[in-house]
Amino acid sequence: MYALDLCGEFSFPNHIVFGPGRVSELADRVRPWGSQALVVTDEGIHGSGILDRVLEVLRDGNIDYRTFDGVEPNPSGDSVEAGVRRLEGCDFIISVGGGSVIDAGKAIRLRATHGGPLEQYDDLIGGSSLIRGDLPPMVAIPTTAGTGSEVGRSTVITLGGRKTVIFSPALIPTMALCDPALTLDMPRRVTAGTGADALTHNIEAYYARGFHPLCDAIAVDGMRRAMRSLPVAMEEPRDLAARSDMMVAAMMGAIAFQKGLGVVHSLSHPLSTIAGVHHGTANALMLPYALRFNREFIADRSAVVADALGVPAAPNPLETVERIATALENLFQAIGLPARLREVGVQSALICRMADLAMEDGCHLCNPRPVSRQDMVDLYEAAL
Ligand SMILES: NC(=O)c1ccc[n+]([C@@H]2O[C@H](COP(=O)([O-])OP(=O)(O)OC[C@H]3O[C@@H](n4cnc5c(N)ncnc54)[C@H](O)[C@@H]3O)[C@@H](O)[C@H]2O)c1
Ligand SMILES: [Fe+2]
Repeated sequence: MYALDLCGEFSFPNHIVFGPGRVSELADRVRPWGSQALVVTDEGIHGSGILDRVLEVLRDGNIDYRTFDGVEPNPSGDSVEAGVRRLEGCDFIISVGGGSVIDAGKAIRLRATHGGPLEQYDDLIGGSSLIRGDLPPMVAIPTTAGTGSEVGRSTVITLGGRKTVIFSPALIPTMALCDPALTLDMPRRVTAGTGADALTHNIEAYYARGFHPLCDAIAVDGMRRAMRSLPVAMEEPRDLAARSDMMVAAMMGAIAFQKGLGVVHSLSHPLSTIAGVHHGTANALMLPYALRFNREFIADRSAVVADALGVPAAPNPLETVERIATALENLFQAIGLPARLREVGVQSALICRMADLAMEDGCHLCNPRPVSRQDMVDLYEAAL
């Protein structure tokens, strides 16, 4: 099991400072970057006491700061622009929060040196070619263990009602300051939903199309950690070993999905923008159905996944996929996640519009089985 005293510092893929209590190093870490920080966060982090802790470290270290706490879940272009208006005079950015806050910080950082509107940087229209490397420094301090955005090269911003991925190696935070102690008081539903996101990233990345043995190896270890530690983190929220394991699993998921994701993320993005479902919770709702949809295309790779997830493989590989899907359904049910779309208020009347948006989403292009619009409709209906 994960050793509690295992703190680490490594540069892979960006500079990662990892360990319980290490948020106390923040001021010393950012001092070389200048004297004035923009601290990006949201109301939940403001109210949780985590922001106070971070600001205290900055004050004790004589770092000046300005705060922007206006990031909403599934952040919009408007909240990014509101953050940009707070930037004047700041030398660098500190994002303290979950994936929404880290992504908003990345987009604010982009806009510090790049003109608007954000739509022009959409990866689907080749926007990454417009992104230069001259962004101000940024440290990401995750408070959830799910998206792994602290080690990722993309930011997901809701523009015109669509989850828009802006992608560039320049967007990867200069530093990830990962302090698992900041996740000890995460609300149960956030632990469950974000943990499901980490698990989904590792599983979808492993099965994604393409040859990437490096990402595959990371994905297998990431899914193993998330499967063993998410139930523990739910049962014993203050178990630091489990929280640390989940924070590692989240980073591994984001590193692994450099390879690509799949249909689960294309289906979950409209569930967030149209129906307001939390991102990881939306993934948990769709993952078992997507695995069954993919079964003939993933059966030959499923013994490894079954082993990592602690699921006994069956003599018939197709049956192994079914066992994996069932094990995940059981886990999600045990940790209190919804099992059906109607439980989160999704009506069948929304499915047509969501299927159109899911087809426009780029993630399914890496799905092991090609996906049609009718498949999207069928998958939503199966989960309804
Ligand atoms: N950039 C990427 O690669 C990537 C990958 C996956 C998801 N995402 C995006 O990330 C967003 C989801 O991020 P998320 O799942 O981390 O949720 P989130 O950032 O939206 O946070 C959810 C809620 O939990 C609260 N919260 C977070 N940490 C807390 C803590 N420690 N204590 C108390 N409250 C806490 C927040 O205030 C918020 O109200 C979505 O917009 C999604 O599209 C990005
Ligand atoms: Fe995700």
